[in-house]
Amino acid sequence: MSEKTITLTNNSDGRTVDLPLYKGTIGPEVMDIGKLYSGMGIFTYDPGFIATGSCRSSITYIDGDKGNLWYRGYPIEQLAERAKFLEVAYLLLYGELPSLDQLSEFERIIRYHSMINETLKNFFDGFHFNAHPMAVMVGVVGSLSAFYHDSLDINNPRHREISAHRMIAKMPTIAAASYKHNVGEPFIYPRNDLDYCANFLHMMFATPCEEYVPDPLAVKAVNLLFILHADHEQNASTSTVRLAGSSQANPFACLASGIASLWGPAHGGANEAVLDMLREIGDVSNVDKYIAKAKDKNDPFRLMGFGHRVYKNHDPRATIIRKVCHEILESMADTDNPMFELALRLEEVALEDEYFVERKLYPNVDFYSGIIYRALNIPNSMFTVMFAIARTVGWMAHWMEMMSDPQQRIGRPRQIYTGHDRRDYVGIERR
Ligand code: ACO
Repeated sequence: MSEKTITLTNNSDGRTVDLPLYKGTIGPEVMDIGKLYSGMGIFTYDPGFIATGSCRSSITYIDGDKGNLWYRGYPIEQLAERAKFLEVAYLLLYGELPSLDQLSEFERIIRYHSMINETLKNFFDGFHFNAHPMAVMVGVVGSLSAFYHDSLDINNPRHREISAHRMIAKMPTIAAASYKHNVGEPFIYPRNDLDYCANFLHMMFATPCEEYVPDPLAVKAVNLLFILHADHEQNASTSTVRLAGSSQANPFACLASGIASLWGPAHGGANEAVLDMLREIGDVSNVDKYIAKAKDKNDPFRLMGFGHRVYKNHDPRATIIRKVCHEILESMADTDNPMFELALRLEEVALEDEYFVERKLYPNVDFYSGIIYRALNIPNSMFTVMFAIARTVGWMAHWMEMMSDPQQRIGRPRQIYTGHDRRDYVGIERR
């Protein structure tokens, strides 16, 4: 695979090792450190994986400095402008954009997998009514492993594909059911005459007493946010899915672990944290005080929805969604909501403040996604669930890619041990 090598020399004992250098389609060269320990007796140390690639992947490419995000080579801006979510899902799973026939067949398959087994509904009853919907998602998605024995052979590519279809189809149904459980309303069955995003809004907002007619602007916004959130290469939750899958765990268990990782406020939980933060700030007159808190190293407060591990100039998804966010706020009846005014003011101040400009802390996609979901009347506790529906496509695409990669091995990082050196057991009477 590689002609080029790099030679490392340990200055203290003179041992050398030649390590292969790889080059992907695009992006920096990558040094293969697999032989470092056997050749030199040294491990690498890289908390947070700042400079460590964990796999080969042909799904998504990010250039954080240039603000580029491509799915299978297609810039996110073009997909966001022109594609439907399921078209993007097909692209991520299969590598190519679908033809009309391929897309309608894919949509048909997803539509006919969208119901959940009636007995699965009993799982929801095990949760207290005020359980966080993400807690319900982790449990219910994990429990799917108990339902599909017909397609759980992870070494069979067709079984893997069926699992991916099932998960993409059932996530909106499970997500809406976790919301309905939370508000004490009966679950609403999916409708096959609606498209993916409209059907999700229907399952969220219809009741047996009243039909819900999805607002086209709301459908457009959800479609766009789902596309923007569909994949983001080796982020924390996708890496979690891959690590869980590397032990040959079944896909539903892997997905449940991905959902758990996504829940954290430093990752997918950020959009919910943005709204909590706006509520805490409370009023435009408090913005300066909170900006000062965010800059104070002795204060744990951070501006949620600002900053990103990879995008250090701008988050291309934020640029796309910002426009729609402003469009929605202008067109919706809720425009004079003081929280939205506060959000726009915070955005303005932070974009000009030296601390944020110097550290390249721009609003990320989740600063806007939370505000949009709020404007669509989706409750805060459902924001990360919405993210999980979209990211299911990326998780499944990565899991399928990993499972068909002959270089795949169980993920097993090493450590720097900082505990005690060897010592002898002391009887309890002498301690
Ligand atoms: N508010 C205030 N200061 C911040 C923020 C913030 N949101 N983010 C980073 N900083 C500061 C840090 O204190 C640090 O300052 P220093 O250099 O003076 O010590 C500097 O900016 C660099 O920050 P790091 O935490 O080292 O950057 P890292 O890449 O590790 O973290 C992260 C990125 C986790 C996203 C961080 O910016 C953050 O916590 N943001 C808020 C949470 C958030 O919005 N997460 C969503 C990410 S997008 C997604 O998951 C889809």
